[in-house]
Amino acid sequence: MTAPKLLFHLSDIHFGLEDNEALDWVEREIASRQPDAVAITGDLTMRARHHEFAAAEKWIHSLPVPVTVEPGNHDLPAYYLPERYFRPLNRFEAFRDVVERRIELPGLALVPLNTNVPAQPRLNWSKGRVTKAALADCLRQVDALPDGMRALVTVHHPLRETGTRGTALTRNGSLALEELAKRNVLGVMSGHVHDPFDIMEDTPHGPVRMIGAGTLSQRIRSTPPSFNELTWDGEELDVRVRTLGDIDTADMQIDDVPPDAMPPREPGEPVAPVGNVPRTDPPVH
Ligand SMILES: [Fe+2]
Ligand SMILES: [Fe+2]
Repeated sequence: MTAPKLLFHLSDIHFGLEDNEALDWVEREIASRQPDAVAITGDLTMRARHHEFAAAEKWIHSLPVPVTVEPGNHDLPAYYLPERYFRPLNRFEAFRDVVERRIELPGLALVPLNTNVPAQPRLNWSKGRVTKAALADCLRQVDALPDGMRALVTVHHPLRETGTRGTALTRNGSLALEELAKRNVLGVMSGHVHDPFDIMEDTPHGPVRMIGAGTLSQRIRSTPPSFNELTWDGEELDVRVRTLGDIDTADMQIDDVPPDAMPPREPGEPVAPVGNVPRTDPPVH
């Protein structure tokens, strides 16, 4: 049996509107706990501005442990369309060493799956889409892992095809989940919705565990800033939500996947028991 592994799952820092107190605390936690790896599941910035990327780069490259970063929809240039279409990850140049990086630890691997596309045939481009090429690339990496090594897949958008408002969240998300279920992955780690969750999602090929991290920005939905602490002992994967206020994990997690990160305003939308819903909507730009 391999030694227990400790992973920190951070998401949606949104440099430009980051929460400084929370980030300073996470930095101290990483320094003192020394996790085996840190996975950051997208939305590093607010609007992919150069100064936001510069701040993200400084913070991420200061971390003293292996890091993998997924791009998020906020990290693709929104206004410079030639750049968005032809070089969507252009502004990740300084992150080449960590972006979409596979990290292999003894018995456990973090494998990236990109859910961002520069454009898609629907009005809301902030939503996710799993392209055939991105899924094939992820599955090839999962299939190539040594015998006995388990995989945690890192994505930005939760792989949920139908949201709580009946809108399509991540196109081809169901197909991706089915393929991952066939491969018995340990779980899929995501961001984007700014509230944490830990949900077993059924597929025709068996269940897949979907693990969502909250935000470390000021753009809160129904929970204060948080990150996920994952412990893998070779048999059980324990997911604990960490907050500055030491709130219980069960009080922090939502029980369904909302369509986006906007605070819940309609009855029936998932709200974490802690109920930390801001009175006014946070800025989106
Ligand atoms: Fe976000
Ligand atoms: Fe996002």
